[in-house]
Amino acid sequence: MRLLFVTSEAYPLAKTGGLADVSRSLPAALKRQGADITVLMPAYPRAVVQLRDAKVVTRLGPAFGITDGLLIAGTFPDCDLPVLLVSSATLFGRDGGLYQDNEGADWGDNALRFAYFSKAAADLALGRTDIGWLPDLVHANDWHTGLLPYFLAHHEGARPRTVFTTHNMAFQGNFGHGDVPDLGHGDFEFYGKVSYLKAGLRYADRVTTVSPTYAREILTPEYGFGLDGVLAARGSDFCGILNGIDETIWNPATDRFLPANYRPRETAGKRVCKRELQRELGLPPAPDVPVIGFVSRLTHQKMADALIEALPWIAERGAQLAVVGEGDRAIEATLAHAAEQHPTVIAATVGYDETLAHKLQAGSDILLAPARFEPCGLTQLYALKYGTLPVVRRTGGLADTVVDTNNLSICDRTASGFVFDDPTTDGMISALSRALALYRDQLHWRLVQLQAMTRTFGWDRSAGAYMDLYRGVTGIAPKWRE
Ligand code: ADP
Ligand code: GLC
Repeated sequence: MRLLFVTSEAYPLAKTGGLADVSRSLPAALKRQGADITVLMPAYPRAVVQLRDAKVVTRLGPAFGITDGLLIAGTFPDCDLPVLLVSSATLFGRDGGLYQDNEGADWGDNALRFAYFSKAAADLALGRTDIGWLPDLVHANDWHTGLLPYFLAHHEGARPRTVFTTHNMAFQGNFGHGDVPDLGHGDFEFYGKVSYLKAGLRYADRVTTVSPTYAREILTPEYGFGLDGVLAARGSDFCGILNGIDETIWNPATDRFLPANYRPRETAGKRVCKRELQRELGLPPAPDVPVIGFVSRLTHQKMADALIEALPWIAERGAQLAVVGEGDRAIEATLAHAAEQHPTVIAATVGYDETLAHKLQAGSDILLAPARFEPCGLTQLYALKYGTLPVVRRTGGLADTVVDTNNLSICDRTASGFVFDDPTTDGMISALSRALALYRDQLHWRLVQLQAMTRTFGWDRSAGAYMDLYRGVTGIAPKWRE
């Protein structure tokens, strides 16, 4: 089966969050399952410089007034997964973030940038660019590619089937009519705006999201951000498939960012990672003081405001807190200030640091990953693998992947972290205090840690579910039946 996987980011070419991890690890897993897969993304400068064997393969026809489009082909720098980059110096060849400028303001032409990207993807999928490869199925991700299923659905004649995955219903790509190029007559008006997310949800042949629990939640007004009705209308064409993790990148036994490696039954290396993390962050190198890690966007979704409220409580508990994150500017400043005031208790790194994220997962004892909503969440999966017990709220993918520790779950060997229900600072603190209590009971701590580390969250099962979905929608049978 020939698959075109269309995304606005993919690790390590360009990353702002979990979408990038999935856009690398899912295609790699699909390739292992026999798919002929190519990843398509915008040619941000950071992606172009990393691409291996890069070459311009063709010009792209003019669209929406953009005439400098090129298609660049290559492979990921560290694995032989094929990539195509949609290049336009006008739209993507600029310094700054993927979606925002250096001051954190959204690029004023995002509506045009991602309409053009989706149009280029549609042209490619319909054989209008001469590259000698046509996909059977196009898998589009998040609002950036929401127009792609719409463009294909409106093509008269043969076309590839489409799957659209929403990784987060809070990011909708809603634009004023004046900012959007002429898109013809689609039904994706949303409260007076044009919603690229709605276009994807409405026009794809199948729609998925990234965990079964989030799939149920977003059919409700509380979690659907106004689009629950659009999803409900898709009936059985909508489902949730749990994300996996790339165990060649996130694995404490092989992770090249760590000062020492370790395995479920040989955890001496984890103690080295903790000591080195404390040293690097300027925290007292105390092996018995629990280190609480927080690796996240600093946003309302991730309850970063609750973290701020809990700082005095954490400081009084004799624990250490290590944060790496960026997002809300006020939260960034409060965290940096708290770290200055309490340098032996709080270490805050404001910004994006991939290496530190790995070191922090390995060197912490507890990963604090609360959320008001969480489509899947990858950091808690990395934490489980690294023996860093996660504290999470019972929502979305967090609810699907972390089993709360209590007498029963310890006995039946399913316990793997700490789960709370109330999306409040108190709710979070109650789970965190249970985690700190278990930490003092090292015998049981080790038991739960071992269970966490030996759970499997690789991609194979979920990639199989995507293959089944693709086969269902294209009618292409698996090889053994052909
Ligand atoms: P989301 O995509 O909603 O931000 P996920 O848990 O799915 O949440 O994925 C977050 C990804 O981004 C993980 O790979 C995590 O390690 C990474 N990450 C988040 N914040 C930072 C940061 N400040 N520095 C480095 N990596 C980060
Ligand atoms: C989004 C979600 C996150 C999910 C990621 C990858 O960023 O917020 O929960 O893990 O996408 O699917």
